[in-house]
Amino acid sequence: ADIPVITIDGPTASGKGTLADEVGKALGYGVLDSGALYRVAGLAARRAGVDLDDGDAVAALVPGLDLRFQDGHIFLGSEDVSARLRAEATGLLASQVAVHPQVRSALHQLQLSFRRLPGLVADGRDMGTALFPDAPLKIFLTASAATRAERRYKQLISKGIPANIEGLREDLEARDERDKNRATSPLAPAQDALLLDNSALGIEESVTQVLDWWQQRR
Ligand code: C5P
Repeated sequence: ADIPVITIDGPTASGKGTLADEVGKALGYGVLDSGALYRVAGLAARRAGVDLDDGDAVAALVPGLDLRFQDGHIFLGSEDVSARLRAEATGLLASQVAVHPQVRSALHQLQLSFRRLPGLVADGRDMGTALFPDAPLKIFLTASAATRAERRYKQLISKGIPANIEGLREDLEARDERDKNRATSPLAPAQDALLLDNSALGIEESVTQVLDWWQQRR
């Protein structure tokens, strides 16, 4: 528990991943993208033809996953699944399997194993509440739904992927509803979390804010 952790939780497309990467880089810390693990579980379940509503069956797949993390890419067996994991459709699969407590606890140990020296920046929905409750700095990152949909839209278009901004907003609001209303580890700020609304902030301003807080906290 002497290994420092900064947790960044918040809704879909609030910019957690980018912020976590930049803060990790600035401090020389490792980064845990916990959503990617739920995405892998959702993808593996769909490929195995497992019923996504069957928590036991989905959780049973987790120990057998041959996962490798390499240079920011994620491999499932010999396949680089990074691009597939980021697809909107995989995000929806992830939020479906993430409601099951069995699936969450199957991924628990794996997430804790990312806590290594010199430190960790962990992003997700329950990093400050469930995984790293002793983290000295917890951030709850938000942005308006319109801002989040627009960012996601630009991201997709810049990659040459066709997108519809209204559809994106509906998808992310549906995912947020499911994440907020599930019984186990619902999306909610930790009691001691600092709120950061980045609707009107650039990434550099957000990074500076987090680094300032980190200076004060540790
Ligand atoms: O953050 P990301 O969009 O990659 O997460 C995909 C989904 O995985 C979320 O919508 C949520 O349902 C689930 N998730 C979770 N707990 C986390 C991270 C992600 O339940 N710590």
